[in-house]
Amino acid sequence: MRKKIIAANWKMNKVPMEAKDFAAELAPLCATPDVDVVFCVPHVMLCPVRKSTTPNGIGLGVQNMHFDEFGAYTGEISTPMLEHFGVTHAIIGHSERRQYFNETDEAINKKTKKAIAAGLIPIVCVGESLAQREANITIEHLRIQTKLAMVGISATDAEKIVIAYEPIWAIGTGVVATTQQAEEACASIRTVLAEIFDEPTAQKIRIQYGGSVTPDNAADLFAQPNIDGALVGGASLKLDFAKIVNYKG
Ligand code: 13P
Repeated sequence: MRKKIIAANWKMNKVPMEAKDFAAELAPLCATPDVDVVFCVPHVMLCPVRKSTTPNGIGLGVQNMHFDEFGAYTGEISTPMLEHFGVTHAIIGHSERRQYFNETDEAINKKTKKAIAAGLIPIVCVGESLAQREANITIEHLRIQTKLAMVGISATDAEKIVIAYEPIWAIGTGVVATTQQAEEACASIRTVLAEIFDEPTAQKIRIQYGGSVTPDNAADLFAQPNIDGALVGGASLKLDFAKIVNYKG
């Protein structure tokens, strides 16, 4: 039985003082042994947010990181720099980074490997555009993205990875995938993982759904056999996020 993992992706929102107060209010409401909960915040908010995540057993994530440790990469942040901030997770290859910052599958693969080597749990994002869904190539696209992200990763390391299936057309639009669409996509990703690694490994890897998740649709999504939690954007900026974490009521 895979433990659900529900992660907040704050994206580029809030300022540090606001983040500190919000996390102090939200974290106790999200403290539960039943679900893994993670707050993925902008780098400059790691310190203030950590004060509330750590005591409440909540993970602390970054939304991006570089695959090298040091060097001439202006504006980037590496894993040794994150070491003393209590970071546990790293979102890798979010569609917004692929789209607006030209992140390639190769860079995403390198970042995934680096996160694992640094002891972080990568949350690797995959997902199709509306054009791809309409052209009926969703499953092929997810297969390619998943395979390229996993190049050179062992089955033992793969077990630590979380995959986030985020259809681009559902992100920030209020248009959530139907439970059937989300389940079908997540199941197809698990099939690919079984091909790359093996069936027992694929059964251990957690696959989240992301895209307009709210307290109203979370429980239905989480009832699907291949959906092991969510990566939540907009609703994670409000106390509503605790309702998603406590979806069982
Ligand atoms: P929304 O929940 O705002 O649709 O964002 C989803 C997302 O991109 C999480 O990474």
